[in-house]
Amino acid sequence: MPVNTSEVSPVPSLFSPVSLGKIELANRIVMAPLTRVRAGSSGIPGDLMVEYYRQRASVGMIITEGTYPDHASQGYVGEPGIATDEQAAGWQRVFEAVHAEGGRIVLQIMHAGRGTHPDINGGRRILAPSAIAIDNKTFTEKGEQPYPVPEAMTTAEIRAAVEDFVAAARRAIEAGADGVEIHGANGYLLQEFLSPAANQRTDGYGGSPHNRARFVVEVVTAVAQAVGAERVGLRISPEVDLGDVFETDRDDVLATYGTLLDQLRPLGLAYLSVLHAEPGGDLVQELRRRFDGKLIVNSGPFGGQTTREQALQQIEAGHADAVAVGRALIANPDLVERWQGGHPENEPRPELFYGPGAEGYTDYPFLEAA
Ligand SMILES: Cc1cc2nc3c(=O)[nH]c(=O)nc-3n(C[C@H](O)[C@H](O)[C@H](O)COP(=O)(O)O)c2cc1C
Repeated sequence: MPVNTSEVSPVPSLFSPVSLGKIELANRIVMAPLTRVRAGSSGIPGDLMVEYYRQRASVGMIITEGTYPDHASQGYVGEPGIATDEQAAGWQRVFEAVHAEGGRIVLQIMHAGRGTHPDINGGRRILAPSAIAIDNKTFTEKGEQPYPVPEAMTTAEIRAAVEDFVAAARRAIEAGADGVEIHGANGYLLQEFLSPAANQRTDGYGGSPHNRARFVVEVVTAVAQAVGAERVGLRISPEVDLGDVFETDRDDVLATYGTLLDQLRPLGLAYLSVLHAEPGGDLVQELRRRFDGKLIVNSGPFGGQTTREQALQQIEAGHADAVAVGRALIANPDLVERWQGGHPENEPRPELFYGPGAEGYTDYPFLEAA
């Protein structure tokens, strides 16, 4: 039967533009946030980081590596911060370099919560919703050590953490970021509050799904009020098996993330970014309906790395508005050109993901040199 194409909305391509709030993307390939620990002990982005992000500016939007809003929230040795004006000035150089190439860049603000150690955060206190340690080890300045038992945050400390997110977001926007992404994923502080395993509080921040969602609602709302919702994204990873958050009960996951997104919907955020094994599945698509805004998906860590075919399919099937791509972009600064032309790709070198220098960071060849 002939189709009247004028009545059929065109299927967007991975290589077509899209707007996420105030941020206009030239294509739908988004660089996933990727911790690379090259900021040294100062946490100030330097020349090497400027070059790394500049190389990757042809994606529709870069989401920076997780960046700590205050020193106590630092989760990795060598992680950059946005806790001071000096760190913001370092980021300003990164943002300017990306903008000079015509790119877009948002800063991921990450509070590690209990996912850190005094030999990472400069001997500061480790704060979390409840005094329950992650049953694992982390890499510190003194080698691998078990995660410590954190201190349960007081209400005043919860308020202070919200203010730290706000101050960090303001610094990022003043330094020229196109937006900020609140890191609510991968078992760090925000997901610790959402998780019925990590959050055993008996006050208004614990217990019911609504109470467990309260802190995330407060952080995102306060940041949106401070810098404008159309410049704020949120990343979540419901059911991800990281940092002992144990979100294994689908009904509870739906209730918790559902009430979270019901409360965030009226804000009109730039985007929601969801990391989940099945972007096209019931859970993610239900959360998308509840959020009622632009969706970025990423399914990578549950199998191999995100492939061209997956990214094309996720957009063409209408599962998302954009796709976050991690490891393929570590290895291919010009990934958009490679995927558009069906060119071969460099292989990532995982042993150098967290190394200190240029090797495995800014030395992956571009197409013409490959
Ligand atoms: C080296 C490395 C560092 C990462 N750092 C972060 C991070 O800082 N923040 C975050 O939200 N996710 C982080 N992730 C998860 C990625 O954003 C992404 O979800 C994951 O790599 C899967 O996507 P891919 O298959 O395209 O690589 C990291 C992943 C890797 C491999």
